Amino acid sequence: MDEWTVGKLLQWTTTYLGDHGSDTARLDAEVLLAHARGCGRIDLYTSYEEVVDDASRTSFRELVRRRSSGAPVAYLVGKREFYSLPFEVNAEVLIPRPETELIVVAALDWIKAAALDRPRVVDVGVGSGAIAVSIAKYAPHCQFVACDNSVAALEVAKRNAVANGVGENVEFVESDLLAEVAGPFDLIVSNPPYVAEAEFAELPETVREFEPRRALVGGPTGVEVIARLAPQAADKLAPGGRLLVELSPMIAEQCQQLFAGGDDWADVRIERDGAQLPRMLRATRAPCQG
Ligand SMILES: C[S@@+](CC[C@H](N)C(=O)[O-])C[C@H]1O[C@@H](n2cnc3c(N)ncnc32)[C@H](O)[C@@H]1O
Repeated sequence: MDEWTVGKLLQWTTTYLGDHGSDTARLDAEVLLAHARGCGRIDLYTSYEEVVDDASRTSFRELVRRRSSGAPVAYLVGKREFYSLPFEVNAEVLIPRPETELIVVAALDWIKAAALDRPRVVDVGVGSGAIAVSIAKYAPHCQFVACDNSVAALEVAKRNAVANGVGENVEFVESDLLAEVAGPFDLIVSNPPYVAEAEFAELPETVREFEPRRALVGGPTGVEVIARLAPQAADKLAPGGRLLVELSPMIAEQCQQLFAGGDDWADVRIERDGAQLPRMLRATRAPCQG
């Protein structure tokens, strides 16, 4: 009987995962096999003809079985890269998405332009810590608060802050949005839950069945959490401070109207992501009247 070399296993698994609904079957197979063998993906290419030992094959087989049942690769290997930094992830936190890097870039640009000595920044709904930790890494002079209403998510975020060397700069607070957090802040960033309840049923199974619902669903229309955040953010931002909120193209217009009405906000804009989809609201806290 032919032996299971790295090359053969990858070939077989790519076909198998493709047949079981993965759009990224080859990549999945490589990431899972590298994880099972305890090596980097790049090392697979130089060991194509090597026979995979029994222990690695047993653990790989289990990973492939779970992947074919829809489990996301990031949860299977317990990590995901975001903004070129490593993040631990588990089923308590949303897997960071590449489009969320838009908030990090906008935040770092704003921090640089504002040129404050020690800006105060808060990340609302910190999850894995992707946004707060990435900003903290590249703007170490800021003082951060990171909040979430999930204690389990806060634990993951804390470990990611420490692992990325910014544990000292970030205070973690269990809070319903900004309720338990003392302002004023210069910058508020958030990737809140913004999926509408009806839309949730349409999400891919791998998201719907495995990622935390509380991280995704914003309410009946999807706008509810952002609508609650708006007055809290106005209350806790210093005049001239900046708010950056991720949203979906489906609710971009509603959110713009929500912020553009009233006196709290100036310079309300929706920015597009790399796929040219409306993805982020930015607004500046207007000076208080009277
Ligand atoms: C879309 S996830 C974002 C996670 C992470 N910031 C990211 O960008 O990958 C939303 C996060 O908000 C948290 N969350 C949901 N409702 C909240 C609330 N009312 N107050 C605080 N956090 C909340 C969830 O637990 C989840 O971690």
